[in-house]
Amino acid sequence: MKYKLPIIIINFKTYKEIYGNNGLKIAKAAEQVSKEEGLTIMIAPPIAEVMLYTTQINIPVISQHVDAHEPDRGTGMIPVELIKSTGAVGSIVNHSEHPVNLNSISFVVDKLKKYDMISCVCVQRSSEAGSIAILNPDMVAIEPPELIGGNISVSTAKPEIVAYSVENVREQSNEVAVLCGAGIKSDEDVKKAVDLDVDGILISSGVVLSKNPKEIIENLASGF
Ligand code: G3P
Repeated sequence: MKYKLPIIIINFKTYKEIYGNNGLKIAKAAEQVSKEEGLTIMIAPPIAEVMLYTTQINIPVISQHVDAHEPDRGTGMIPVELIKSTGAVGSIVNHSEHPVNLNSISFVVDKLKKYDMISCVCVQRSSEAGSIAILNPDMVAIEPPELIGGNISVSTAKPEIVAYSVENVREQSNEVAVLCGAGIKSDEDVKKAVDLDVDGILISSGVVLSKNPKEIIENLASGF
């Protein structure tokens, strides 16, 4: 699937703040900002609700996870083909809150590619970024787990990790986009990330737990 960089991906995780209609309100806000600013914004709602979003929201929806599993018997498994059938256009892969092994990453990246779907593979360390880039996903996202959900962004606390990740990915490919995430809350965090040459950000709590998600998304967008 074609999309324009830079990009913001909003991962809803499974925060109770998005249950009921609340998540849809955030998604609508993201849709509005995306249109107003001409900026690519994707959302990653809980897997059980993906179809709700793909049918009601007009920006790309991706899954938070997919399994390295063929569509056959496999209770509770989430094959790529299943999320494709819901209208999702891709998936986060290997988030530190749902890590998978290298074989699984490779399997789902290939499978997503086969269906022209987007893969955003998360890594916890910059040294992993290069080896994941070899698999040729659409995006590699560096997210140090200790900063996730906190108030200090990765671009402020550990700029060198972001810079090394960009360098490691670029050594392998110019086609793979590099994102960073963890603790991002404001346009300043985004600007610092952009100065480190990233192509986008992955964010959760800064938007999902905010009292005014639209204002936050607008503020983040202004950082690019
Ligand atoms: O996938 C996004 C993520 O892990 C970052 O979370 O809450 O630090 O923005 P957060």
